[in-house]
Amino acid sequence: MAKEHEIAASADIRTGEMTPVRLGRSTIILTRLSCGTLRAVSGRCPHMGANLQFGCITGMAQGPEYGKIEMTRENEVLRCPWHGFEFDLRTGDPAVPAPKGQAMKLRLYEAKERDGRVYVSS
Ligand code: FES
Repeated sequence: MAKEHEIAASADIRTGEMTPVRLGRSTIILTRLSCGTLRAVSGRCPHMGANLQFGCITGMAQGPEYGKIEMTRENEVLRCPWHGFEFDLRTGDPAVPAPKGQAMKLRLYEAKERDGRVYVSS
C-alpha cells in the first residue's frame, strides 16, 4: 500500500518552475501545468539518470511544415539537461519515440493538495 508524505507548501509550487524535494533517498520534482494541475515526477532521467532539476520546463515545438514552427503545450514538457530528451508532464511519456529497447517513461507520483500542503504517495 502506498504511503502518503507531506513534502511542500502548495504556494511554493509554481507553473513552469521546478521545485525539487527529497523523499527518502530520492529527489522528486514538483511543478504545475498551465491549467494549475500539480505534478510530481522523479528527479532522475529514465535515459541515463541525469538530475532533472538542472533541466528545464518548456513546451512542444510543432509545425505543419518547414519554417512554420510554433510552441504549444507551454509548461507541459520537461527537458533533460544531459541529452535533451523531453518528457510529457501529463503522462511521463517521451516527446519522441524512445530508442529501441529503452524504457524511457518518466515516473509520475500521485500528488494531492490539502489545506495548503502538498502530499505525494510512494
Ligand atoms: S540522461 Fe536524460 S536524456 Fe540522457
